Amino acid sequence: MSVDRPRPLVAGNWKMNGLRMSAKVLGDIQAGYTPGLKAKVDLLVCPPATLLYTFAHISVGSRIAVGGQDCHAKESGAHTGDISAEMLADAGATYVIVGHSERRQFHGEKDADVCAKAVAAHRAGLTAVVCVGETREEREAGKTLNVVKKQLRGSIPVDSNSQNLVVAYEPVWAIGTGLTPTAADVAEVHGLIREELKRLVGKADHGKVRILYGGSVKPSNAAELMAVENVDGALVGGASLVAADFLAIAGAYLT
Ligand code: PGA
Repeated sequence: MSVDRPRPLVAGNWKMNGLRMSAKVLGDIQAGYTPGLKAKVDLLVCPPATLLYTFAHISVGSRIAVGGQDCHAKESGAHTGDISAEMLADAGATYVIVGHSERRQFHGEKDADVCAKAVAAHRAGLTAVVCVGETREEREAGKTLNVVKKQLRGSIPVDSNSQNLVVAYEPVWAIGTGLTPTAADVAEVHGLIREELKRLVGKADHGKVRILYGGSVKPSNAAELMAVENVDGALVGGASLVAADFLAIAGAYLT
């Protein structure tokens, strides 16, 4: 583990889950974010857009960041149902996830769309959490590294740096399935991402960009996954909805 490893980030992606009463979960996360944890790891919660403003309000002073799960590339306009990065920032978000595989799969988002959204995030002063990852077929065909490389080159904007970019490696087949890659497989892909970041954000900054692993992260596997070289935190779906589990995952950094 290198000494100048970036400060870890554990991020919760709530997806389409959560009602106003879920503010209690955020309160429990806040209560469990002890000084010991604060010293070791940053926390981010990405609730549905309907809860963003409330969550941002509750989080003031807690050092827990809140973020959106997607944004439109444009600042405003005739785009029914969409939300701009500026609107997310206005609601109190400081991060936004872009290019999650569920957006790529169910909304047909391509790398160029993801890149445009990341550009929008930067325009609004948000940190973009750019997601990449292969499908099961791609892994079985031995294409993982090429797929991830292509997604990175197509999705990360030129103005990216370690302050406005986080990369999340999320193998599609591991999301919500309980399956995870081996530590060696995670190390291989994260190593490739770190190497690619040299050309995408520059040699001086590439080591400081946080690279998260996502896909069935749980309290029981967090320590092993977080110990892998070039894994600087986690993007957590299902387990982030339970405060104790989310905190236990972050707790992997206490050991
Ligand atoms: P999961 O989801 O932790 O439920 O597998 C991760 C994600 O999609 O970000």
